[in-house]
Amino acid sequence: MSAEPPRHETYTHGHAPAVVRHHAKRTAEEAAAFLLPELRPGMRLLDVGCGPGSITRGLAEIVAPGQVVGLDMSSETLDAARRDAAARGLENLRYEIGSVYELAFPDASFDAAYAHQVFQHLREREVALREMLRVLRPGGLIAVRDVDWGTVAYWPRDPWIDRFIEVHERTWYQNGGEPQMGRQLRALFNGAGIADVRITASVWCYATRGETTEWGQSYADRLVSSPMGDRPVEYGYASREDIQAMASALRAWGSHPDALWAFIHIAALGRKAG
Ligand SMILES: C[S@@+](CC[C@H](N)C(=O)[O-])C[C@H]1O[C@@H](n2cnc3c(N)ncnc32)[C@H](O)[C@@H]1O
Repeated sequence: MSAEPPRHETYTHGHAPAVVRHHAKRTAEEAAAFLLPELRPGMRLLDVGCGPGSITRGLAEIVAPGQVVGLDMSSETLDAARRDAAARGLENLRYEIGSVYELAFPDASFDAAYAHQVFQHLREREVALREMLRVLRPGGLIAVRDVDWGTVAYWPRDPWIDRFIEVHERTWYQNGGEPQMGRQLRALFNGAGIADVRITASVWCYATRGETTEWGQSYADRLVSSPMGDRPVEYGYASREDIQAMASALRAWGSHPDALWAFIHIAALGRKAG
């Protein structure tokens, strides 16, 4: 069961096992590297759109005994995150279902609010950021990181992978998201009047046999087993046969000895003014 997707947007990736498995490999060390130097034990932190919680639990370890809340609109994903936190004995971490648009917390209840790879899926990004700022205390840390699919560099070239990128972005826009979110984060933060804005960028690069095989396989699986492949067909952007051809091309690319995929992820860090 999932909370009602807010304001008529559709989460482009869905919560198929291929997607959640991939997200569960992320760590706080990598995904929140831009925020970690600012965190202190005892801080109360909110992780919005936390997914399976592999980043959230790392944040909880760093700010312990401060309380961490992981929030997501998918209860299946949160069930797995809860089991993981219980198995690790993390008592300062809890998970709640909910939407970033209507956070069930009083004003100024957190010292830090973080969202990793979430704003790219939101239709009303300004509204979401305002709601995160509401639950932050004045001077609290606001930290957001998003990919920018407009920066994809891959090799060797394949017309079906080019087609996949084009169809994926088009579908993403139709779902209400913004695949080129990364480059817009500074504008988003400035527009919200956030103080001390610091923008950094880093690259995810897959260029070993293991990395490219996993990346190609993961996206091929998403295409054939998640809404990522169903929506383009529904919207009339591709046929089922096209989706199969894209998945086969991604698998074949992943096992090519020269395969390389890189794209930029942009992080914005600031403080709530006032
Ligand atoms: C790409 S995943 C990122 C998960 C995790 N932060 C990570 O980086 O591994 C995006 C997550 O945002 C959640 N999400 C999307 N829209 C949301 C909303 N309006 N409110 C709360 N969570 C949302 C999805 O359910 C999904 O788990």
